[in-house]
Amino acid sequence: MPSRNKSTNRRVSRRPRRAPMIEVRHSPIHGFGVFALRRIRKGTTIIEYIGERVSHEEADARYADKAEDDNHTFLFTVDARTVLDGGVGGNEARYINHGCDPNCESALAGKRVFVEAIRTIQKGEELSYDYQIQRDPDDAPNVDEIFACRCGATGCRGTMLAPPAKRRAARKPKRAPAKGGRRKRAKSKRR
Ligand SMILES: C[S@@+](CC[C@H](N)C(=O)[O-])C[C@H]1O[C@@H](n2cnc3c(N)ncnc32)[C@H](O)[C@@H]1O
Ligand SMILES: [Zn+2]
Repeated sequence: MPSRNKSTNRRVSRRPRRAPMIEVRHSPIHGFGVFALRRIRKGTTIIEYIGERVSHEEADARYADKAEDDNHTFLFTVDARTVLDGGVGGNEARYINHGCDPNCESALAGKRVFVEAIRTIQKGEELSYDYQIQRDPDDAPNVDEIFACRCGATGCRGTMLAPPAKRRAARKPKRAPAKGGRRKRAKSKRR
């Protein structure tokens, strides 16, 4: 049963605080990564992806001056209106690398994004989820090279981009996609 802190009259839980689940350190995949500090059970919500909420236009503007072959962003698409920029006010979640055989997935809950374990993760394992970065009709011909994956999984598909969509018979076009996922920056304005 929670008791109350006498000085603040706030509820105080008597449940002992658990040790942290994750830490950020250098990764063999890329730069920094996120690693399990203890065994994490399948289904555990590990962390929320936090960042400033901006429009797609603002997200484009923030990365517009980067070189064409620089794939690095901290952007996460929530829906057709909103992008989270983990580079501003973000937490450890922004350091989770992409994996083609991932142990986590990103899940949308309303307009919030959480990272959940999709299998049991052992202490010391690096966390990853499939970025499934969407392809665009005006992508550079070498886009898969620019977004080359170095996850090292046996079945690595070689790219952080989602597999190309299969051609379908002509149908009524769908409304604007609102699927959450990692986001490319827009095309560079530099020539
Ligand atoms: C949100 S950051 C992840 C943290 C990153 N390692 C860092 O130190 O900033 C995403 C970027 O990390 C790199 N990255 C993540 N997963 C990768 C992978 N499997 N292969 C190659 N680069 C990866 C890409 O540059 C990607 O744009
Ligand atoms: Zn891979």
